[in-house]
Amino acid sequence: MILAPMQGLTELLFRRVYEECFPGAIKLAITPFLSLTHNLHNLLNDKSQSATLRHYLRDVLPEANNGSIPITPQILGKEPEEFIALANRLYDMGYSEVNWNIGCPMRNITGKHRGSGILPYPEEVRAVLDAVMPELKPKLSIKMRIGLRHKEEIFQLVPVLNDYPLASVTIHPRLGRQQYTGVPDMETFGEVLPLIKHPVIYNGDIKTMADIQQIKEKYPTVADIMVGRGILYNPTLAIESGKCEVLKNGKEHLTKHFIGRLMDEIRRTALTEESALRKTKEYWCLLWRALPISEAEARKVLREQELTAVDKMICTFIQ
Ligand SMILES: Cc1cc2nc3c(=O)[nH]c(=O)nc-3n(C[C@H](O)[C@H](O)[C@H](O)COP(=O)(O)O)c2cc1C
Repeated sequence: MILAPMQGLTELLFRRVYEECFPGAIKLAITPFLSLTHNLHNLLNDKSQSATLRHYLRDVLPEANNGSIPITPQILGKEPEEFIALANRLYDMGYSEVNWNIGCPMRNITGKHRGSGILPYPEEVRAVLDAVMPELKPKLSIKMRIGLRHKEEIFQLVPVLNDYPLASVTIHPRLGRQQYTGVPDMETFGEVLPLIKHPVIYNGDIKTMADIQQIKEKYPTVADIMVGRGILYNPTLAIESGKCEVLKNGKEHLTKHFIGRLMDEIRRTALTEESALRKTKEYWCLLWRALPISEAEARKVLREQELTAVDKMICTFIQ
């Protein structure tokens, strides 16, 4: 199982706590994206900017990721020079692969033909790959949706992707314009899977072991499964197997311990009470589903404005 990139959620703090609680359970995480910026050359080369550079790269600094889930850094953007400079710097930092995000559905991003905004334009994808691939030191994998507006887009793109030596292609079978609504388009996924010559990783709406089994049985050529929100809905998913009695008995305890450790680390590392409160609520929006509590109880936490009160409520749920 691979952990999906989720900006603000599957960042370093989460990955460290997860690895501490479930060592080795997730073999790889794709990091939330590093966005290419126009001043990237200065940032990478001007020594006086080293503090800014460390801040920009904070989620992927190798020393900070020691003892965490192994990572592949992800890049968002399509400017070849900046892409090559960042990817090769990441290689020099020890990363043998980088991932290109051509799936992000946010409007401010897609409007610039970034993220899933590039999917309707196969020739733009080809231009980026033509410029970037010969210069890249690390391997390149791709994470994408099936299109921005139409599922036909992926069928136009596959021949382009097949022309390059990609490490893998992760497909989240929704359209960019759907954001996270509706359900994954499994029909299109099934049609496109045999056309892709690279290892294909499935991503989207995996919440249970049964979901994983179903993908493996229905699509045996799928190389791996990537899970995002599902790991927050059910933190023990990565160590689950129908035969594991110990886990069945200990699931609730392990889940509560994990949530407790995550909350501790948020408190320990947040710069202000306000940011601790915001972060706690961001996680709580998804995590509460892992606990035997009602939605009404969970919502009370979200309405609360004081960190100590939020802490107290969550503590009672995870005791
Ligand atoms: C809050 C949030 C942030 C996300 N950030 C990223 C990101 O940085 N890069 C990316 O490729 N996908 C990002 N995604 C998409 C997820 O990686 C994943 O494709 C999507 O959530 C579907 O998988 P899931 O149903 O397992 O969550 C994000 C999703 C969410 C909900």
